Amino acid sequence: MRTDDNLTREFLKNLLDSLEGGVLAVDRAMRITAFNRAAEEITGLNREEVLNKECRQVLKGELCEDECPVKKAMETGEPVYSYEIMITNKGGKKIPVNVSTSALRSSSDEIIGAVESFRDLTKHKGLWAKLREERNRAQQYLNIAGVIIMAINEQGFITLMNKRGCEVLGYREEEIIGKNWFDLGVPEKAREKRKATFRRVMAGEEKEEEDYENTIVTKTGEERIIAWHNTTLLDERGLIIGTLSSGEDITKRKETEVELIRAEKLTSLGQLAASVAHEVNNPLAGILVYTTLLLKKYQAKKLQTEETAIQLSKMKKELERTSRIIRNLLDFSRQSDADMKPTEINKVVEAALLLVRHQISLENIKLEMKLGEGLPLVLAGFDQIQQVLINLILNATQAMPEGGKLSVATSAAKNIRIGESLKNTVRIDVTDTGVGIPKENLGKLFTPFFTTKEKGKGVGLGLPVVHGIMERHKGKIEVASEVNRGTTFTIYLEAWDGKEGDHPRR
Ligand SMILES: Nc1ncnc2c1ncn2[C@@H]1O[C@H](COP(=O)(O)OP(=O)(O)O)[C@@H](O)[C@H]1O
Ligand SMILES: [Mg+2]
Repeated sequence: MRTDDNLTREFLKNLLDSLEGGVLAVDRAMRITAFNRAAEEITGLNREEVLNKECRQVLKGELCEDECPVKKAMETGEPVYSYEIMITNKGGKKIPVNVSTSALRSSSDEIIGAVESFRDLTKHKGLWAKLREERNRAQQYLNIAGVIIMAINEQGFITLMNKRGCEVLGYREEEIIGKNWFDLGVPEKAREKRKATFRRVMAGEEKEEEDYENTIVTKTGEERIIAWHNTTLLDERGLIIGTLSSGEDITKRKETEVELIRAEKLTSLGQLAASVAHEVNNPLAGILVYTTLLLKKYQAKKLQTEETAIQLSKMKKELERTSRIIRNLLDFSRQSDADMKPTEINKVVEAALLLVRHQISLENIKLEMKLGEGLPLVLAGFDQIQQVLINLILNATQAMPEGGKLSVATSAAKNIRIGESLKNTVRIDVTDTGVGIPKENLGKLFTPFFTTKEKGKGVGLGLPVVHGIMERHKGKIEVASEVNRGTTFTIYLEAWDGKEGDHPRR
């Protein structure tokens, strides 16, 4: 019996020593119970030095402190396959090794320790060099990219960030990797909401949106607007393990857009100013006449008459009208806030028409309004949509120098294709009976500075701005026109479904 046992032991030792790779076994207390010849060679340690010692006291690997894979295999009973780490050999030299660990079981299937096998990667020079080369090349590609490339795992921890990402965020790579993305890069006000959304996506309850824009915060606390493109990362079993995103810093572009909208607004304000001045001038002239009359009466002490009362109330009426017109103009000139709110489109149409009505009547144009009833709300910036309508209406007016008919109509339109999907929308048509647009110009309408108008009348920014605002609203604009008969501009805005509309994902 005893001899048999010795034989088996001898056989096992020879077997282990014949293996090319290092083998190391530990018991439940992490004391080393086996150490083969290859293990001696790789580590530079003698069997006698290590047997019965606690593993981490004699061997120094990268992962010893936090996440010892041997311990993990022992605790979970699951093997940990083929990963690379650096170990330090007896002489202090760092050696890359490829390691696999698994739990060691007794014949009664109880876990009694763990076994680790490891291969010296420098021995496989070609392989190691190739691996390193591959990795460097991948790193280089990522770093050359002009966009942010970031991966986060299912807990929201950053596992990859390329050079551009570090630049935009203002951190060094080592300050970023392993940190929670939401705590590091998401502005505090949006943090909880985006975390919650991310959790739902990771749990598979919600689909990750492929493209969206949101705000991130840099190391210095500055906010930047990023346009993201995302893919969900799956493991080989198809389970969600994180996301990979590329992001472009569009802060500058957004600022320019806002500038453009502002500049264009100034132009339309200029155009409105003439007609508003006219509108205001008439009542003021009237008021001046009455004031002169009343002053004379006052001097003649004849104020207390019926006539005075009539004149005063006429003055009051005119003054009210004047101040209403001016208030509208001020409202329009006010800096537009980009806030998207559930909005009644008919209200926007009315606000826009209040401002341009004077202009329309001056030009001998008949106005027809057909506002649909019971329209759904849309998520929109009131001021911006008002600006869209004013631009379209002013263009229509300018297309009818001899007068004509302008109609503005709103309606609900279902299953409208916007981008890739079909949407329920609210539709606005602005139709004129003007000069029309020749076919060859149709393609240029939305190009900045395209204008057919004489200097001072047009700068060619109206429609580009309209287009920009519609893009911002994820809406659509169409035009149909016939020379000498007239033009219809149609815009579609997605009906609001009652949910919060911004997409502050992360
Ligand atoms: N309703 C319309 N009828 C005819 N032409 C139009 C109409 N709307 C726009 N256009 C054409 O599109 C051009 C560009 O319009 P826009 O971008 O608003 O710039 P602008 O009004 O300053 O010229 C106009 O110059 C005109 O030729
Ligand atoms: Mg215009």
